[in-house]
Amino acid sequence: MNTIFKAFAPATVANCGPGFDIFGFAVEGIGDEVAISTKDAPGINLKIHGTDRLPLDPFKNSATRPLLDMMKEVGYSGGLNVDLYKNLPLGSGLGSSAASAVAAVTACNELFNLPFEKKELLRFCLLGEAAACGNAHADNVAPSLLGGFVVIRSYLPLEVISIPTPKHLQCCIIHPHIEVNTESARAILPDNYSRDEIIGQLGNIAGIISALYIGDLELFGRSLDDIIAVPYRNKSIPYFKEAKEIALLEGAFGLTISGSGPSMVAFCDSAKSAFFIGERIKDMYQRNGIGADFTATTVDQVGAKLL
Ligand code: HSE
Repeated sequence: MNTIFKAFAPATVANCGPGFDIFGFAVEGIGDEVAISTKDAPGINLKIHGTDRLPLDPFKNSATRPLLDMMKEVGYSGGLNVDLYKNLPLGSGLGSSAASAVAAVTACNELFNLPFEKKELLRFCLLGEAAACGNAHADNVAPSLLGGFVVIRSYLPLEVISIPTPKHLQCCIIHPHIEVNTESARAILPDNYSRDEIIGQLGNIAGIISALYIGDLELFGRSLDDIIAVPYRNKSIPYFKEAKEIALLEGAFGLTISGSGPSMVAFCDSAKSAFFIGERIKDMYQRNGIGADFTATTVDQVGAKLL
């Protein structure tokens, strides 16, 4: 019998305020799944469930692009059947392309009998990210693969650090029903920033890391300010200011854009509060004629897993 290897990889919040391209955390409970089995004829036969808007060309799809290199590296000359179960919304800022890549690579590594350690899989996942948005940023794939809150300390060479998160850190992910293309959301960002802006950003980056280590959620909220991306991207998220005002009024420590948006993440210290913030912001969007949904959740500590 031809064994099927199936894996799940969680959604992620990249950037997390000031950590553009260097911070990301895995989100508990939501993600993509991929099932893989071998076939005799060479090449990848990709089936996508849940959307018809993603490329079926294995070279262009974020789930299958990394597998082409994995197959080459392990010297596998047969083919693969790949079923991608797309649960995450496209263009949502929740690391949808990354979750597909990570789930595929995790299932394929198992199929090949674990030739690569978990961290080694990152470089394959990055190929998927580059295929999806033209840029191999690691702040979605690394937390989706490893779980938890991750810092990309360096890209060349790639070095990632896992940071502990306080148990009482809860969050609400709000997803207004519009799409943002990551490539375009990167293209609008300036090339240069002033020394004062960089100093402010460094302070906030240090603040986020310190807050996670000492469990100070107020410090975490104060450190969420960003100068690299949020001031330019929030203009294409309708009612961003209103959403942030509601979150703060209802007791959140802060709210920022998740990845390149339009999803936003509000941080708080209880599941009840996360749910309430989500309800209030969703209502606000609906009153203004924009659909929205939310997930009250926390940081996933597991990352990609076999099913
Ligand atoms: N760091 C990336 C960006 C994440 O903000 O463009 C995209 O999901």
